[in-house]
Amino acid sequence: MNRRELLQAGALLGGAVLGQVSTALAQESDGSVEFPPGFLWGSATVAYQVEGACREDGRGPSIWDTFSHAPGKTRNGDTGDVACDSYHRWREDIALLKQLGLKSYRFSIAWPRIQPTGRGSANQAGLDYYSRLTDGLLEAGIRPLATLYHWDLPQALEDDGGWPNRETAERFTDYSRLVAQALSDRIGDWVLFNEPKTFTQMGYLQGVHAPGRKDPLAFLRATHAVNLAQGQAFRTLKEIKPTLLVGSAFDVSPMLPATVSAEDQAAAVTADALLNLWHLQPALMGDCPAGVLLADRQEDILGFRPGDEAILRAPFDFVGLNYYTGFRVSRVPRGSGIPGADVRAEGAIVPGAPRGKTDIGWVIYPGGLHEILLRMHQVTGDIPIEITENGCAYNTRPDQDGRIRDDARIAYLRSHLKELHRAIKDGVPVRAYHLWSLLDNFEWAEGFAQRFGIVFVDFEQGQKRMFKDSGHWYAQVAATNRIS
Ligand code: FCB
Repeated sequence: MNRRELLQAGALLGGAVLGQVSTALAQESDGSVEFPPGFLWGSATVAYQVEGACREDGRGPSIWDTFSHAPGKTRNGDTGDVACDSYHRWREDIALLKQLGLKSYRFSIAWPRIQPTGRGSANQAGLDYYSRLTDGLLEAGIRPLATLYHWDLPQALEDDGGWPNRETAERFTDYSRLVAQALSDRIGDWVLFNEPKTFTQMGYLQGVHAPGRKDPLAFLRATHAVNLAQGQAFRTLKEIKPTLLVGSAFDVSPMLPATVSAEDQAAAVTADALLNLWHLQPALMGDCPAGVLLADRQEDILGFRPGDEAILRAPFDFVGLNYYTGFRVSRVPRGSGIPGADVRAEGAIVPGAPRGKTDIGWVIYPGGLHEILLRMHQVTGDIPIEITENGCAYNTRPDQDGRIRDDARIAYLRSHLKELHRAIKDGVPVRAYHLWSLLDNFEWAEGFAQRFGIVFVDFEQGQKRMFKDSGHWYAQVAATNRIS
């Protein structure tokens, strides 16, 4: 077999074989690297970050509407009321994807469009919107990858206790059923949750994201309810159509001990358990990672009931991983706020990393992508992996001539894609990459102050979209399947 045939065999036979053939993924002498044939190049957006139209067609309020409208919660008081207006401009957005030559689009479905109060029958106008979007993508030859929960909990469910309330898992299961019944004839690939760690922690522990609570116990209970919901919804989707491919998207980072001390090393292990594995291990193995909660407090802290082990299970068809940066972990004094938990680690962004930071202040650490992929591969084994998000904030604006020269983004993407390629070469079965983000958009608590897009959106001038240099560069990557 020549190299191309070997690569083809790897793509056809999937993860197990990919490991053996991947050594054939050569690095050319000019430093360019080629991805396996059939590798899926894509991009991602999220309902609340791009859609706008928050009060249209029967959409109910979500916790992000409430939070962003509360004084002082987001930068400049920005909200997602209009965002990129993608609810009306979705055709234009699909045309952008097509021009870029991308083959996968990760978007999210807004729960409050489907169930305005988080319960009851489906709002047909909401389903119709996603049905149109899906048809448009399929017509353009783009795979729809739908995320069911990307942080926009219906406000009515928060009023009933939110994610710390176990009942919310039942509501999520009902919602997932309604969506899958309507769209699973055309959408085959589903992400259940986006970054469960981020929304439970920032929303219920740190209070810097919606719903803005600062309650350690509520945070831990929320994590358990989400894990239950993940297992239940997984089975619900499979009951509706067994051939659906179902996963979740987890944000992961290498946890680097701040010093060589035994304490910091132990803290890094704890951080890995709480930040990387807390929502993945329950799905794959039916239990929570050890060493975070004191063993005898698990039941009363999490609200863990007999039989939950089986409910948590979700033998994913693929695992989505989001990667942005690495963390430096050091021991912090006990009593750091989580009752009954042995959490001593505090994530801190790697200081003094040679490549600096992006405009949002996240340290640039490309090698961390290779590191964390190898680490997660130890847990996920042969399950295919998709990079569901990776990208960077640079607030480059158009020059006088109208061109947007975001060279820093190209450098970031190139260095990370090279590390991704290295991980594939080392046997990690990654089959897709979704760049965050297609569009500049509403970056949660940062509002519109941080631009992650490869397409510039002029929020002041009628939502005009313009490719940045990085967009042109990424189109080349997708067209050639290689990084030069
Ligand atoms: C991730 C979120 C995504 C986006 C990026 C920058 O954590 O999933 O919605 O905000 O960060």
